[in-house]
Amino acid sequence: MMKRPGQRHLLLLFTAATLCCPALGGGSVYTSEKEVKVDENQPATLSCYYSGFSSPRVEWKFVQGSTTSLVCYDSKITASYQGRVVFSQTGISFHSVTRKDTGIYTCMVTENGGEDYGEISVHLLVLVPPSKPSVNIPSSGTIGHRVVLTCSEENGSPPPQYQWFRDGVLMPEDPKKSRVFTNSSYTINSKTGELVFNPLSAYDTGEYSCQVYNGVGTAMRSEAIRLEAAELNVGGIVAAVIVTLILLGLLVFGVWFAYSQGYFNRTSKGSTSKKVIYSQPSARSDGDFRQTSSFLV
Ligand SMILES: *[C@@H]1O[C@H](CO)[C@@H](O)[C@H](O)[C@H]1NC(C)=O
Repeated sequence: MMKRPGQRHLLLLFTAATLCCPALGGGSVYTSEKEVKVDENQPATLSCYYSGFSSPRVEWKFVQGSTTSLVCYDSKITASYQGRVVFSQTGISFHSVTRKDTGIYTCMVTENGGEDYGEISVHLLVLVPPSKPSVNIPSSGTIGHRVVLTCSEENGSPPPQYQWFRDGVLMPEDPKKSRVFTNSSYTINSKTGELVFNPLSAYDTGEYSCQVYNGVGTAMRSEAIRLEAAELNVGGIVAAVIVTLILLGLLVFGVWFAYSQGYFNRTSKGSTSKKVIYSQPSARSDGDFRQTSSFLV
């Protein structure tokens, strides 16, 4: 896009406004670099210039996520940064930065015994090359179903971009624009590292690997893992159902057979050892003698 002179002038004004913050009174605070990028273990200087203060007091605070700490108070480096950071009238300097130093540093200038106040923030980004990413790739997937492959890398700063490869060939963002991947339906999220097949096709069988790159050091690639795209095994399911039905039939027949042989009667009565006593009056009527017989059924 071409910029007309007027637009460029506006842009300059805008840049000057973001770099320079007029303070409440006559004083102003500014920096030469709002964003400082530096490799890990290298020195870094965050600049803070001010004018219009007769007796300035300088503080630096560090904000990283939800934690805030003081780097410099009343123009002196605090105990937690002593030995690592040096204060000067033009800013603070780290001897050597670590990845934990990434965050927002704010220089706050106050007029001693006055109302005047101004501040400026500097973003420090400590550059860390990515490490080898870890992947989660299923060894098989069902054709026609949704299959998700994930890739993640934790160390890289700034966070890396993700790319996927099948059999060593870079997978384009849009499979329809590539001759090799035209039969595939997938989406790649280069920020989260997710590769989603929806649906998986027979052409998707292959060895998959993921690569991360953040502009620092070299790109890192995961190991390659084979994904097999398989048909839903209809024959196997039918066979399993038939075998189950045959087994069930045999069981029912067995139970019926045992029942018909009186096996259940004998066991149920026998198990309780119930003594059934049949007593009957004697056929003969001579005397009071009664014949009693007992059976154990
Ligand atoms: C895509 O599918 C067609 C048939 O549907 C086949 O002829 C062609 O070889 C496939 N392309 C690739 C790259 O596998």
